[in-house]
Amino acid sequence: MTETTQQEGAWPQSYAAASKWLHWIIAACVLAVLPMGIVMPRLPEGALQNELFDLHRSTGMLVLALAVLRVSARYAFGTPAPARSLTRFERIASLAAHHALLVLIFLMPLVGWASMSAYRAEVSVYGLFTLPNILPKDATLYGVLSWAHTILGYAMAAILVAHIGGALMHGFIRRDGVLNRMLPKRLAVRTD
Ligand code: HEM
Repeated sequence: MTETTQQEGAWPQSYAAASKWLHWIIAACVLAVLPMGIVMPRLPEGALQNELFDLHRSTGMLVLALAVLRVSARYAFGTPAPARSLTRFERIASLAAHHALLVLIFLMPLVGWASMSAYRAEVSVYGLFTLPNILPKDATLYGVLSWAHTILGYAMAAILVAHIGGALMHGFIRRDGVLNRMLPKRLAVRTD
């Protein structure tokens, strides 16, 4: 299914298997990276803090790689039309949340990487390789990027709470099949 066929009206009924798997793998990574990001700067300096910093940065960069695949899958296989059971407000709000999250899975890792470059901290990805610096060393730039990373991180957490709340509401209160569109078929929840 391509973007062109979508416009012609032949929308897929649910997300493609590749899109579903990528959605859940990225969700697991982000749900690990976000709390790590909040906890680690508040820990006392030491081995645990260093480990968490490394894991946060590595998994954040994994999210960036998976984000490229996720968007490619969206273009290759298309996305289902908004569910008919949604009100106009819900349709606009859910599309806005989905697009914001898609932008943030690129922006958060890129801003994190850029801030580390400006700080000149080496970013090793799971000890496998080291990322190149993408910016010159600059303390002011680091301050701005670190601030942006924090603000966007909390915005992302707020959008995620709304997104997860909406998904659970559709799956277990309204039981209208919206959650099933993103679940593997054998995990589908009962609909009314
Ligand atoms: C999906 C990807 C990512 C998410 C959702 C995320 C989220 C966050 C959040 C919520 C914080 C807490 C900020 C605070 O409370 O001060 C944080 C801190 C931090 N993150 Fe990330 N992050 C991601 C990727 C990355 C990457 C790829 C790097 C570096 C390569 C990175 C480097 C840092 C650093 C160094 C901090 C500590 C605060 C600072 O000094 O800027 N993050 N992150």
